[in-house]
Amino acid sequence: MKIDVLSLFPEAFTSFLATSMVARAISKSAIEVELDDIRNYSRDKHRQTDDYPYGGFAGMVATPQPLWDAIKARLRQSPAPVIYFTPQGRKLNQKILLDYAREPRVILICGHYKEIDQRIRRLAVSDEISLGDFVLSGGELAAQVFIDGVARLQDGVLSDIDSAKSDSFYHRQLGFPCYTRPESFLEQRVPEVLLSGNHALIQAWADAQAHFLTQTRRPDLL
Ligand SMILES: C[S@@+](CC[C@H](N)C(=O)[O-])C[C@H]1O[C@@H](n2cnc3c(N)ncnc32)[C@H](O)[C@@H]1O
Repeated sequence: MKIDVLSLFPEAFTSFLATSMVARAISKSAIEVELDDIRNYSRDKHRQTDDYPYGGFAGMVATPQPLWDAIKARLRQSPAPVIYFTPQGRKLNQKILLDYAREPRVILICGHYKEIDQRIRRLAVSDEISLGDFVLSGGELAAQVFIDGVARLQDGVLSDIDSAKSDSFYHRQLGFPCYTRPESFLEQRVPEVLLSGNHALIQAWADAQAHFLTQTRRPDLL
């Protein structure tokens, strides 16, 4: 999967792309991430990418020209969905990640300032995605959340894909509680069933725990 990222702060991705599961996905060629600095497309003599909003409102607005040229340059290579991260978008969830994980290519737009010019959203964006009901300073963290989420769904990235399949939201429920050694920690013992060696019983326990958690914390999923 090829992921193009358009950002005013591509350096924000340096350690993210070199760390953990995302680095592994890149090293296995399961994903390829190309960062593009929106400023490089500015035709302004000072390479400016923001301007005052019409209407005299507070804040600055990302000008349309650099974004438009950056998106066009990317689309010239091959067609792809263009995703803009914004608190006004549909809320990101596992289903959206699963759908996009199957795409050969996506283009991600990280906003900044008060907003990007509305005409870019109208003319060039095919989907708008939000991390949740709060406002961040830029779309870089949202893009990173998206990249991590789709990277771990690519074939061969997780050493044990069954692990992802029993995570929260893969099926419409939360994950089950997990324990590792030691058997007793601060007088808290691991549930006996997990030490029984009886795989059917252990699976039934995990299913019941996941169901209970979902029912008590996220009944909307059931
Ligand atoms: C200060 S925010 C803009 C908020 C915008 N004026 C509004 O009222 O919805 C700047 C940028 O951060 C990103 N951003 C902020 N919060 C976000 C969220 N909850 N989900 C996704 N992206 C977000 C977007 O790319 C946005 O363009």
